[in-house]
Amino acid sequence: MKYYIETFGCQLNISDSERISKEIEKMGYKKTSIMNEADLIIINMCSIRQSAVNRVVGKAEKIKRLKSSKSILTGCILRKDIRIFRKSFNCIFSIRSLSRWESFLKKGKRIYYPNPLESEPDISYFKIEPLRENNFSALIPISSGCNNFCSYCVVPYTRGKEVSREPQDILKEVKNAVKNGTKEIWLLGQNVNSYSSEGVKFPEILRKVNEIKGNFWIRFTSPHPKYFSDDLIKTMKECEKITEYLNLPMQSGDNEILKKMNRPYTIEKYKKLVKKIRKAIPDIFLSTDIIVGFPSESEKNFENTLKILKEIKFGMAYISRYSKRKNTTAEKMKDDVLEKEKKKREKILTEALEKISLKNNREYVDKNLKVLVDKYRRGFSIGKDRHYRTVKFKSEQNFKGKFVKVKITKPLPWGLEGKIIKNGK
Ligand code: SAH
Ligand code: SF4
Ligand code: F3S
Repeated sequence: MKYYIETFGCQLNISDSERISKEIEKMGYKKTSIMNEADLIIINMCSIRQSAVNRVVGKAEKIKRLKSSKSILTGCILRKDIRIFRKSFNCIFSIRSLSRWESFLKKGKRIYYPNPLESEPDISYFKIEPLRENNFSALIPISSGCNNFCSYCVVPYTRGKEVSREPQDILKEVKNAVKNGTKEIWLLGQNVNSYSSEGVKFPEILRKVNEIKGNFWIRFTSPHPKYFSDDLIKTMKECEKITEYLNLPMQSGDNEILKKMNRPYTIEKYKKLVKKIRKAIPDIFLSTDIIVGFPSESEKNFENTLKILKEIKFGMAYISRYSKRKNTTAEKMKDDVLEKEKKKREKILTEALEKISLKNNREYVDKNLKVLVDKYRRGFSIGKDRHYRTVKFKSEQNFKGKFVKVKITKPLPWGLEGKIIKNGK
């Protein structure tokens, strides 16, 4: 018997899929990458934007036509959307009930998706050992859920209340991954830096992971500006395995919009935080998340975002066009920025970013960088350096999963090109 699994959304969902794979293989299924030949199809979905939901609607149509297969829908599903999918999928299960899926399937249970906001936050499924997609970059969830209720965001309604994993569980998983040769640890949470369990806070868990012996980097995502303590900055500076890379979501550069988004900081506060981080770690590579076209965002509001983007000189930004979501408080606000205008604003930010990025990248010519290769395409090995800059180099050998030394020869708009000078391990 074969199973097919497709994952949408963020690294947390990818990580969840690695645990789903383990459970399903325990039931005797083998993985296939061809949906049509699978006896069991699993879709792990994301609801962050309507476009993500629409993609699953498209998949559902296909699955419905494959009458013989069994199918499970899981992941971040809005309860209000379940009715859209109940006819196309045999089963809809919450991820938090993963250890009970086998018995659900035996009993012929079709839907188990309690309201994440009302049910007790149960993350015992994190105890299931993941079947990792690769052995060089380990995704390790340390918390799940979110209590922040930004006005545009579905996460509190799909992942439920925030809950942190026990420190010894996390450390055990990290040690196992390192033993299996991982080169990179990603600590994950929707608010990763608000982690707190058994009196252990985020900086302390970072220090404990840093103490584990081995040749690996530590990265984490997503931190929230609200919980970015001085202790965290000090920890990042002092722990040699923590890389000089930080994605610090800003969402907007305009105070009026930040307030409407229910983000609990002003742009002045955000800038102060960036200054503090840069003072402690001068070569840090900063990226951010931005939403354009939030309800009522005027040209002037948008220009403030553009101004801050240039001022802070982010190395990268993940820009999203606002998408109205069910359940959220912004649902009641008028989605009054036209799609055409949202696209225009997205383009303006992207172009500004590209200029900053190219200028930054020029400074790297002739420098030697340690790179962790994660892809091999058409004669090029492609990877990331400590700062999460994309580096590519020509190679006959596939260096995927290895650390290598690369001498940079050419700046690219969104990365660097170079020559390999030393093979790593
Ligand atoms: N916890 C993180 C973000 C998680 S969601 C934080 O606090 O920033 C990932 C990103 O998706 C967000 O940073 C935001 O930029 C984007 N996003 C979330 N909801 C959105 C919506 N309704 N429309 C467009 N983009 C959205
Ligand atoms: Fe969503 Fe805000 Fe929570 Fe991030 S902090 S997951 S944007 S509600
Ligand atoms: Fe999407 Fe859920 Fe992640 S809504 S972005 S998969 S937390």
